[in-house]
Amino acid sequence: MKLSTRAQTLQESAIRKLDGIIQTMSGVDFYRLNIGQPDIPTPPSMMNAIAGFETSVLSYGPASGTPQCRTAFANYHRLWQPALTPADVAVTTGGSEALLFAFTAICDPGDEILAPTPFYTNYNGFATVAGASIKPIPTSIETNFALPSDEELDTIKSDRTRAFVFSNPSNPTGAVYAKSEVERIARWCHRNGIFLISDEVYRRIWFENPPASALEVDDAAEAVVVIDSLSKTWSACGLRLGALISRNVELMEKVERLGQARLGPQPLAQHVGIAALEMPEAYYETIRLMWKNRVDILAEALADIEGVKFNKPTGAFYSMVKLPVESTEEFAKFLITDFRSERDGAFESLVVAPGSGFYVDPNRGKQQIRLAAVLEPTKIQRAIEILGEALISYNG
Ligand SMILES: Cc1ncc(COP(=O)(O)O)c(C=O)c1O
Repeated sequence: MKLSTRAQTLQESAIRKLDGIIQTMSGVDFYRLNIGQPDIPTPPSMMNAIAGFETSVLSYGPASGTPQCRTAFANYHRLWQPALTPADVAVTTGGSEALLFAFTAICDPGDEILAPTPFYTNYNGFATVAGASIKPIPTSIETNFALPSDEELDTIKSDRTRAFVFSNPSNPTGAVYAKSEVERIARWCHRNGIFLISDEVYRRIWFENPPASALEVDDAAEAVVVIDSLSKTWSACGLRLGALISRNVELMEKVERLGQARLGPQPLAQHVGIAALEMPEAYYETIRLMWKNRVDILAEALADIEGVKFNKPTGAFYSMVKLPVESTEEFAKFLITDFRSERDGAFESLVVAPGSGFYVDPNRGKQQIRLAAVLEPTKIQRAIEILGEALISYNG
């Protein structure tokens, strides 16, 4: 039986790739720094909202979300754009569905989406599903992953370019982009009739200066689409709740139709989402400091390993790390299948995400890994100690 070219060209997620091998291993404890799944408890008010959800029928809801949940999202985002209304918000099944809706509503088959590399690996998959492709724009550790200049963008764009997507703070680089940069990119996009898809799912997780929201750029509002999610800030990956936000009325009408095709986002998740979005500002400061501590510990531990190069994240909780090995895919497998560090009679190792999945050209990331500081501090410390031991063993 023949399957679609799109299905056949879908890239396997770099993050999930090693899961199959892990499941066949026994007698070893793995520290999982390969996936952005925080171990911080979900706030009690959200757990209480689950317990307090009362209904006699688990019914469908409106395509773009319940009025209460759209209002809660709009109120929360007014911190960055006071003119926002519930009509500017479509509630989605995670930030993932918001990205898929944005790519599908904006692109025709054969169109291109510009993305600074390295980028969140699933942009590739969503682009493929929408029939579009990602056109990579290299950024580098040396320039702190600075966004391309207007001149570079002018050269790289083609008549098939329909959008520019980036995450701020960035997964996987940990870079944070300030207002002047976001404004410049938004205005360039607007001038050129190109949508700016600003993925802000890590917006509350920053360590030096806060990231700007693309929602702040009033004179490019028609071109701006913001993606948000409850997964990271509220430690609620399994809730599967997010939002697509834009003041482009025509785009929001088409997003509503995409939403109608899959009926609606889950009412229970939206009920819990309202509790999250109404939390006091103090909550965000607490989790921000918690993440800062973890990332500081990750960076300190990495600095002790010889031959390793990395950037200290200024936001989100990831770091791209260059290792003194030829292929991090091979090294990541070695960690899972061969290397064991013994402590108190137990055997331990770690799981990392090979860097190639974060680039369009896999060769660019083949000496890099992405680490996520998602475990409690002592575990991060131990995991990086194992990384150091494993590098010595691997390089003989
Ligand atoms: C940059 C970025 N955008 C979007 C998502 C999707 O998040 P979710 O679908 O869990 O809301 C993730 C998840 O890791 C991410 O890192």
